[in-house]
Amino acid sequence: MVKICCIGAGYVGGPTMAVIALKCPDIEVVVVDISEPRIAAWNSDQLPIYEPGLDDVVKQCRGKNLFFSTDVEKHVAEADIVFVSVNTPTKTQGLGAGKAADLTYWESAARTIADVSKSDKIVVEKSTVPVKTAEAIEKILTHNSKGIKFQILSNPEFLAEGTAIEDLFQPDRVLIGGRETPEGQKAIQSLKSVYAHWVPEDRILTTNLWSAELSKLAANAFLAQRISSVNAMSALCEATGADVAEVSYAIGKDSRIGPKFLNASVGFGGSCFQKDILNLVYICECNGLPEVAEYWKQVIKINDHQKSRFVNRVVSSMFNTVSQKKIAILGFAFKKDTGDTRETPAIDVCKGLLGDKAVLSIYDPQVTEDQIQRDLIMKKFDWDHPLHLQPKSPKSSVKQVSIAWDAYEATKGAHGICILTEWEEFKTIDYKKIYDSMQKPAFVFDGRNVVNAEALREIGFIVYSIGKPLDAWLKDMPAIA
Ligand code: NAD
Ligand code: UDX
Repeated sequence: MVKICCIGAGYVGGPTMAVIALKCPDIEVVVVDISEPRIAAWNSDQLPIYEPGLDDVVKQCRGKNLFFSTDVEKHVAEADIVFVSVNTPTKTQGLGAGKAADLTYWESAARTIADVSKSDKIVVEKSTVPVKTAEAIEKILTHNSKGIKFQILSNPEFLAEGTAIEDLFQPDRVLIGGRETPEGQKAIQSLKSVYAHWVPEDRILTTNLWSAELSKLAANAFLAQRISSVNAMSALCEATGADVAEVSYAIGKDSRIGPKFLNASVGFGGSCFQKDILNLVYICECNGLPEVAEYWKQVIKINDHQKSRFVNRVVSSMFNTVSQKKIAILGFAFKKDTGDTRETPAIDVCKGLLGDKAVLSIYDPQVTEDQIQRDLIMKKFDWDHPLHLQPKSPKSSVKQVSIAWDAYEATKGAHGICILTEWEEFKTIDYKKIYDSMQKPAFVFDGRNVVNAEALREIGFIVYSIGKPLDAWLKDMPAIA
């Protein structure tokens, strides 16, 4: 039986390995992690991450050919193929701080592999890493190898949260990069045969190592760029009376552009886009390409602008101050169908409103109170370090913030509502009931364009929808940035 070990039981390692175990009953898969609470949760009925369909997959294989363990050394030593799916956060200190990828966790995983291995292994980069990381990893492994042979492959993951299981069952493509030597090609074939259990052959792409590593950064940069492009248009739509949904639809009909990923929003979030673009920017700078670096930096600048534009809109619409006003925040996760709050735009919007002394009542169906408080206190980029995975209560909490159990409680007595995640339930809640319980004038700032703005206006709300023609009220308010 082929044995696979995956280091890192997170949003990628957990679901990816569970699907490999489900689709390959002839392979034993062990997912290991240094975080004891995380592994305990994977072994319980309350999985550490919320992902539609994941429970079912885990239940079908756990204890059969899928295992979760903190015994990293034992399972790495026994494996034929070792996936590394650990965090690759943005550096917070030292050379490249605020941009470069911090490979501390990757390096530590590689050193463990080098130390405990007693047989030849294929080591697979699953984490998103800078181009040429495989070369560095190769050095760590071969310098300690005691004659053991390692083949490094790059197999970046393209799943999106909220649809991870669907994406893993039917990937657009699986990408495997390896050395162009006979040993490298043999390793590629071994990994290919794992995916070939369920992925059609023509969807398994093989490339050299550097193309695979760079393709991951490039894919995320292109995706994020589309959102920043449509968000940039949304600002122009508001200024001119055009409707961003109509513009998106019209341009998306061009088969060269296509209709997906053109939804204007309060800004993109998630653990990948910003981190990976910063990483790309740093690599461009290090390779003497400042103009290319500047080009990609703009994607992040527009994203930051979109978040602050939203906050400015809220404040300026409400007579230029939200001081001591209750604002309901509906949705805190970075997108629907996940409890993940990493780099969620809600953090920046909430901090912006708190900066203007608002009182926030936050409701999200999947995010805990502790998590929200931690996010509002934590320093930029600190979130992606395993220390923060430990489920401890925050040392302090933001006093102007309270957490509500549903949308009705959150909005009771509020002056305004900010919709920051596109949860389905925000489309169907009783807005008349909500309106009756709010201060007047009552505002809705829809950062995801999920509500029927006309229906809400008929109830009496003043409604702001990203990139849509403005209400007379909003037009009359002082100009915003
Ligand atoms: P995560 O934080 O959810 O999981 C990483 C896990 O690695 C943590 O549980 C941590 O405790 C563990 N870990 C760190 N160092 C370790 C070590 N030395 N030994 C054992 N365990 C260790 O992160 P994630 O979201 O799963 O992302 C992992 C990688 O995949 C990142 O490089 C990310 O950029 C990339 N990626 C993420 C997504 C996504 O949607 N989250 C998608 C594609 C790629
Ligand atoms: C992304 C990539 O899609 C995935 O391929 C990669 O492996 C990891 O990074 P993820 O961050 O999980 O996945 O979610 P995604 O669906 O890409 O959304 C990212 C952010 O963009 C979210 O905040 C989402 O709300 C926002 N978004 C997405 C928009 O604002 N508009 C859109 O049209 C699409």
